[in-house]
Amino acid sequence: MVVVKSPCEMQGIARKIHGGGKTIAVVPTMGFLHEGHLSLVDQAKKEADVVVLTLFVNPIQFGPNEDYAVYPRDQKRDEALCEARGVDYLFAPDVGDMYSPDASVKIDESSLSRHLCGAVRPGHFSGVCTVVTKLFNITMADAAVFGQKDAQQVAVVRRMVRDLNIPVRIVMAPIVREADGLAMSSRNTRLTPEGRKAALGLSAALKAAKAAYDAGERDADKARALMRATMEASGLKVDYASAVDYGTLENTATLAPGTLLAVAAYSGPVRLIDNCLL
Ligand code: PAJ
Repeated sequence: MVVVKSPCEMQGIARKIHGGGKTIAVVPTMGFLHEGHLSLVDQAKKEADVVVLTLFVNPIQFGPNEDYAVYPRDQKRDEALCEARGVDYLFAPDVGDMYSPDASVKIDESSLSRHLCGAVRPGHFSGVCTVVTKLFNITMADAAVFGQKDAQQVAVVRRMVRDLNIPVRIVMAPIVREADGLAMSSRNTRLTPEGRKAALGLSAALKAAKAAYDAGERDADKARALMRATMEASGLKVDYASAVDYGTLENTATLAPGTLLAVAAYSGPVRLIDNCLL
């Protein structure tokens, strides 16, 4: 595995790979890798000849009161995990390699980004769209693998790729969970033992709503109320408990195939998200 820090050097490598007739799949991450990220690597290996994993904690997608400063980081550990999983190139730039001090261009998706996390994290998806576009341009990827864990992110990136004719195929991979149901997240490492228990409320809420749906419930308001109550009962501070159409991310009145059940809540200071696509 080769570790690359410079965007220019990464582009040179990508050009050579394409020149040799091979394809590239990229897995964008912010590091502190877990099995969820590594499952995307497995998928990426099926999508293209060469796999590039990007490791960059992107400052412009964090709000002023969010966890950029305390976001967990350990590049040496991530390098070992990537090497063992068969990543070909690890692209790990510094902030200064990615953003000029006078950078003045950003990408804004103005519809899907208004909902769910976008409603409570102003500027977040603009930061994501901007960095993801840069990573696509730097790695010249033919395919990019994202996790359903961030289902809104996948929807926004797909919309951006469609609307800007970016020549990359977006692949969505399933959510990887701990044995007890908690969706894996780099932020889980910041939970106290008590907070870790409370965090189970997110997956429990989705499980309860999905069970109600499977038993015939079609009223989206009932599902929202059930999810909210389940999270509150486990001691979480609910950010949202939503049932939306996955095509538009608008609230839906009726649960149906294509409805996204999505939850966000704080366990202590740690904000967690989870979802389930009906
Ligand atoms: P990060 O939170 O590190 O996640 C990187 C990728 O891993 C995302 O596509 C995310 O959905 C996926 N992922 C995280 N946990 C997962 C799980 N439990 N199961 C399956 N996939 C999981 O998402 C970002 O970074 C950033 O916003 C990024 C796209 C890199 C742009 O900065």
